[in-house]
Amino acid sequence: MASKVNVKPLASHGGSDVDLGALVTGIDVEHLSDADFALLRKALFTHQVLILRHQSHVSPKTQYELTQRFDPEARALYGHDKTPDTKRSILHPDLKTIPFQPQVQVIGNGFIPSYEGLENIRLRHPHHRTFHQTVIPEADDLSYTRFYRWHIDAALYHLAPPVATTLLAVKLPSTRAQTLRYDDGTGDELTVPLGTTAFVNGETMYDILSPQDKEFARGTKVEYAAHPYIWMSPAKSRPTGLGMVSEGKELSESELPPIDPSAVQILPMCWKNPVTGRLALQIHPSAVRRLHLADGTIMDDLKTVRELVYRLQRPGIAPAMVYAHDWQEGDLVIFHNRGVLHSVVGAFAEDEIRLFRQCNIAGSALPEGPEFI
Ligand SMILES: [Fe+2]
Repeated sequence: MASKVNVKPLASHGGSDVDLGALVTGIDVEHLSDADFALLRKALFTHQVLILRHQSHVSPKTQYELTQRFDPEARALYGHDKTPDTKRSILHPDLKTIPFQPQVQVIGNGFIPSYEGLENIRLRHPHHRTFHQTVIPEADDLSYTRFYRWHIDAALYHLAPPVATTLLAVKLPSTRAQTLRYDDGTGDELTVPLGTTAFVNGETMYDILSPQDKEFARGTKVEYAAHPYIWMSPAKSRPTGLGMVSEGKELSESELPPIDPSAVQILPMCWKNPVTGRLALQIHPSAVRRLHLADGTIMDDLKTVRELVYRLQRPGIAPAMVYAHDWQEGDLVIFHNRGVLHSVVGAFAEDEIRLFRQCNIAGSALPEGPEFI
């Protein structure tokens, strides 16, 4: 029987250079044949972000099984497993785990009396004031917003980065527009729907580099801090959410949980798409610690490392590069976590109720880098 699956790339709009995202229709994720999954997999690695509408019926178990299918060798561990030292980790306040499906997390905003085995939970949409060095004044806070934190979903210590992340919008408040400010002196702004998830294509981020920077990126490896989300917890972000300000606030090794040197990750700066072979400039900017250059030099000075990484990544988050998804209830978004960066956006009022389910699985292997420098 011919497949009914249809993959329609998102049309780019007014002045936009966005080249990611596709709308997928005619698919039943509860009964997904191998042939239809093969189409979905190819579409994911081609378009990086897939949008499936009207998926409110999808169970946490199905969401987990779908997510795991993109990396069938992976063990059934959530991408961050159980974050140690949850009090200090910057990831701690944002996630609640579904008791019977621990790879699936509930995120959102406001008070939820009962949902999938969780009772009386209070969710909090991350607000930039808790993470950025400077903040938008209180009086402007419901009209203006920022990218909270550009990132890859990854523990970056011990566990390999997940291949895919799925996000299901279960409940949304009524939508309105906000103006996103970069606040980095460029004047860059973007009009976004409230509570959008912003995506940029890591492959585009690589493609727009100069030939010299491409060569540098292909030959360089990125060392991530041990226990990165605890390490960075006292530090603050740049106003673009693209990495941290260097003020020497990071925790020292003696202040961290014990470090297993074999768990520290040194990953290629460019990750290769397993289907198309394209390279993505794929750096988690806030967790970067050192750079290992092609000639064997190790760049250890954190401020210098961050400045260099920022220079490489900033053009790729320019307003014209950003896809800001306008969520509808029932949207299931699948994204290629090893080929995009994404960020939470927006500020909600206390009574704006939002409920999402998120799933990703720690990868079965570390990402592959380029074959040539
Ligand atoms: Fe994320």
